[in-house]
Amino acid sequence: MQTDQLRQILADLPVPAVRAFDTIGSTNDEALAWAEAGAEDGSLVVADQQTMGRGRLGRSWVTNPGAALAFSLILRPPVAEQENLGLFSPLAGLAVCLALQALNLPAEIKWPNDVLLARRKTCGILAESAWQAGQLHGVVVGIGINVTPASVPPSDQVQFPATCVEAQLDKPLDRWELLHAVLESFFEWRNRLGSVEFIQAWEESLAFIGEPVTLKNSGGQSFSGILQGINAQGNLRLRLADGMEKLVSVGDVHLRPDGG
Ligand code: BTN
Repeated sequence: MQTDQLRQILADLPVPAVRAFDTIGSTNDEALAWAEAGAEDGSLVVADQQTMGRGRLGRSWVTNPGAALAFSLILRPPVAEQENLGLFSPLAGLAVCLALQALNLPAEIKWPNDVLLARRKTCGILAESAWQAGQLHGVVVGIGINVTPASVPPSDQVQFPATCVEAQLDKPLDRWELLHAVLESFFEWRNRLGSVEFIQAWEESLAFIGEPVTLKNSGGQSFSGILQGINAQGNLRLRLADGMEKLVSVGDVHLRPDGG
């Protein structure tokens, strides 16, 4: 996909500039450098293939040519929006989930932001912020969506079972239409970031509600319980075995369904 064609496809969206690459290391790295160099809010980096794609917690993310959507959106949040900085990844997850639901796919969100189809991971999100002298310089929201079967990593290389959109849709999909739908939904919900409706929409698409799950934080601590939902602050509500409710905030947390 050429940059000019992509600009045309996205012309009705608040995307002021686009950089499209056949092959790149990581769209997030390109976007972080571009943000540093003064990219405008809504600028977009897209790649057909990534050779050094990055996932959360230092993991790698493979993007094979023509098989996936890999893109990074540069945001320059105004001060008021910076209060909800932690909600940019869930916003991206919600946007992908709603775009897939619009294709009649039963997409769900594995809290906080992975998107699942048939309980298998179809999309991962890596949001990174750039700070300069204590000031927020920009946020990069990187989104990777598995589209064709060639995008699905072998099962021994993933932490959570994976699938792709086409496997669930049973027909080929225009990747650029999906990109448009995701960005449209992202910008629409960005206006309501952190609102009651935002939390509601996030919770409505949440997977594993009422089911036993285990959450592990980056310190290795685990909490098991029945997943209740999301509170107004965006924390996950977990009912522990002793009946107490535990709140877990968005961060370096893994959620796993028990026995799943
Ligand atoms: C994860 O689930 O671990 C997050 C994966 C994020 C992958 C995307 S693909 C586009 C962007 N560029 C990167 O290098 N990573 C993100």
